[in-house]
Amino acid sequence: MCGIIGYTGKDDAKEIMLDALELLEYRGYDSAGIALLNENGTQIVKRAGRVKDLRNLCKEKKPVGCCGIGHTRWATHGGVCDENAHPHRFGRITLIHNGIIENYRELTEKYALEGKLASETDSEVVAAVLEHFYEGDPYSAIRKTVLKLKGTFALAIMFDDQPGKIYAVRNVSPIVAAVTEDGAILSSDVAAIVPFTTDYFVVPEFHVICLSTDGIEMFDLSGDKAEIDWLKVDWDVSRSGKGGYPFYMEKEIMEQPQVIKETILPRIRDGKPDFGKEGIPDEILRDCKRICVIACGTAMHAGLVGKSLIQAMIGIHVDVVMASEFMYNDPVVDKDTLVIAISQSGETIDTLEALKFARKCGSPSISIVNVKGASIARASEYVIYTNAGPEIAVASTKAYTTQLAVLYLITARMAVARKLWSDEQLTAFIDELCRVPEVMEAVLAKKEEIHRLTGTILNAKDVFMIGRGLDYSILLEGSLKLKEISYIHSEAYASGELKHGTIALITEDTPVIAVVTQEKLKSKEFSNIREVQSRGARVLLLLKENEELEESGQWSSVFRLPVMEDPFMVMPASVALQLIAYYVSLDKGLDVDKPRNLAKVVTVE
Ligand code: M6R
Repeated sequence: MCGIIGYTGKDDAKEIMLDALELLEYRGYDSAGIALLNENGTQIVKRAGRVKDLRNLCKEKKPVGCCGIGHTRWATHGGVCDENAHPHRFGRITLIHNGIIENYRELTEKYALEGKLASETDSEVVAAVLEHFYEGDPYSAIRKTVLKLKGTFALAIMFDDQPGKIYAVRNVSPIVAAVTEDGAILSSDVAAIVPFTTDYFVVPEFHVICLSTDGIEMFDLSGDKAEIDWLKVDWDVSRSGKGGYPFYMEKEIMEQPQVIKETILPRIRDGKPDFGKEGIPDEILRDCKRICVIACGTAMHAGLVGKSLIQAMIGIHVDVVMASEFMYNDPVVDKDTLVIAISQSGETIDTLEALKFARKCGSPSISIVNVKGASIARASEYVIYTNAGPEIAVASTKAYTTQLAVLYLITARMAVARKLWSDEQLTAFIDELCRVPEVMEAVLAKKEEIHRLTGTILNAKDVFMIGRGLDYSILLEGSLKLKEISYIHSEAYASGELKHGTIALITEDTPVIAVVTQEKLKSKEFSNIREVQSRGARVLLLLKENEELEESGQWSSVFRLPVMEDPFMVMPASVALQLIAYYVSLDKGLDVDKPRNLAKVVTVE
């Protein structure tokens, strides 16, 4: 949460930072601010609101300088107001912070800061502690301060008497950095760096970097110079814009056929799933007695689909645990439990902490991550990257379906490792997986039809989504998509469970979305649909193209899905549900990409 940027070089830092903050705004958008440092001192411009509001304020205040730091905030400590916006300043120190300082109260007391702080934030306390320790050597002050901090932090710091220099240090919260033509840049993620260069590095935890016009230096906390481990952006940089779509979400939905190809094709060799490049030994897929998936939100929903696949096809038990609850349920994981952590950002702290705990218990681990070099990727034994490219819209779409694609590949590789399938079975499975992109294209080609069908939902207060088995798993994700971007209360419900209480909420004002894609569940799902129709609900039905529909005249809203084998119907159905949510939000005139109260990367517990 929160986006941070730092630039030093020869160009106008204000423009560079404002542009970068727009790219980082998806990480938090409660307030935004920049600070510029030059020989005449430090100038801060900040305010509650979006980056566009900050841009307007900058036109008035006209800050000048070639060295600066900038921040876009998702509020944790202290409300949304100008004072709590970053950068914060105390004495000779100006800083921005992403993360949470858990012991800020103790520090306030210890350094007698009560009454001296201008904001209610934990971040300003760090600036004050730095000021306390600063005697002209930034590294020493940072080292001494960091040793006092409990919590998570990505800090970018400017010292009044060090013009042209930006220092940074982190624990858990991410910082990436790069050298530009005439200076250096740091950011919360590569999105803000790719306009300058495709070579970057992830700042290791508890290492201090210094950016100057000469480049970047890095030291560990003992003061020893550290080597930089350079990475290269390996996705098409032109993909980072909106590509002509009004919102990133639509663009990212439309990209799915392509990114699914990019995720699966490099991992199929001689018709078999292959994780050789990832170095994953078959033993961990063959010998584990159970699997525990840890993830949050959409990524957890992908895990639920994985559970259905693996239990049905491999026959081993799979638990899917909300990472935020993992630690509080006395988890039973051991060396026989393969832990799979799923995360788009690779920075979700709940998932990261749960993964670290599982590793301490001796569990082998694989993470499925989109962002290269992210904390979860580095904290797990093995990593399989989804090649979704940057996902900017807060609502996850292409990350979800590429996570699913990886889970299909893992299922197939497990079957190979355990010698469970014949060659024919394996070929049929892989062929069907390779058909996903074209099937998705077919759904996307009918997006206007889906748009028309959303009319019944637009003004609803509550929406129910019903289905069983895999259909229910898909709807959990479809429902999350709808509620997070349309603000319509939506609940996914296992349709057989409705009659045990919740059906009391169904009236003629409650639109119901039903998904029926699984042959073995069809008749029971239709019975449940009849039950809600009898209570007056209008049903929008998602059904396979080749499925006959009894009394077809009675159905006002039916969307036909291209046909795949049942375990793969998740893919076309998910795309249709994403489009439903998208069009409802769009037609309500909402900010589709930046829904209220949310942030893309969740680095607080
Ligand atoms: O980055 P992660 O995949 O770990 O994020 C987990 C959730 O916060 C995320 O999936 C969230 O639920 C989606 N952005 C919702 O669309």
